[in-house]
Amino acid sequence: MADISSHPIPRHVAIIMDGNGRWATARGLPRVAGHREGAKAVRRAIEAAIGAGVHYLTLFAFSSENWARPAEEVADLTFLMKHYLRSELAELHEQGVRLVVIGERERFGDTLAVELEAAEQKTADNDRLVLIMALSYGGRADIVGAARKAIAAGIPAEELTEQNFGRLLSTDGIPDPDLLIRTSGEKRISNFLLWQLAYAELLFLPVLWPDFGAAEFSAAIEEYATRERRFGARPV
Ligand code: FPP
Repeated sequence: MADISSHPIPRHVAIIMDGNGRWATARGLPRVAGHREGAKAVRRAIEAAIGAGVHYLTLFAFSSENWARPAEEVADLTFLMKHYLRSELAELHEQGVRLVVIGERERFGDTLAVELEAAEQKTADNDRLVLIMALSYGGRADIVGAARKAIAAGIPAEELTEQNFGRLLSTDGIPDPDLLIRTSGEKRISNFLLWQLAYAELLFLPVLWPDFGAAEFSAAIEEYATRERRFGARPV
């Protein structure tokens, strides 16, 4: 049964990192400059999560809808992700971070897909923080993928439950997010973890992603601690 009390530290924080483009435009810079600064904020968020004792951090780095952006921006983002992985992996490993990738990684080409796979294997035994990178991820595609697996496995309709269906999603083995943060003032889920966010606390912050850091992360954790989570139940 769900635990009705609130816990001060969320076990799993998910973040929609939004506002890189606006950050750059406000400075008269190309959008890629915003994404570059955004990558620095990724590092700060990981450090803050470790510092706060959060155990799972999911970052929405590229949505399945982001392929509709101009080819140049997609190439810039792909390059940045590759560069980030190559420059940060040793440090992440050192810090006890386990990397898990969800989404259609193969769409980024063989080089990145193979490097991501190798990074997952290298860090598989780390357990200080599980860093889930959502790359070319879409919540609806995740659910349809799980439905396809259920059909392919021949699971009879009457035996399909929320529990066994949840295990067919890309987040199998990862607890649902307790807290979702979206930066940049937009108040949407944007096809992120649709199934998994069912009972997450939602926090929409005005800060643009490149300006996100330790102070914003701590404030989010403090706000979370004030929320009373009931999971649909009523306190007695
Ligand atoms: C949203 O800003 C952000 C993205 C689409 C990509 C997120 C990418 C990063 C944080 C940097 C690279 C990632 C890693 C993992 C190193 P936006 O472009 O939609 O901003 P806007 O809404 O202001 O235009």
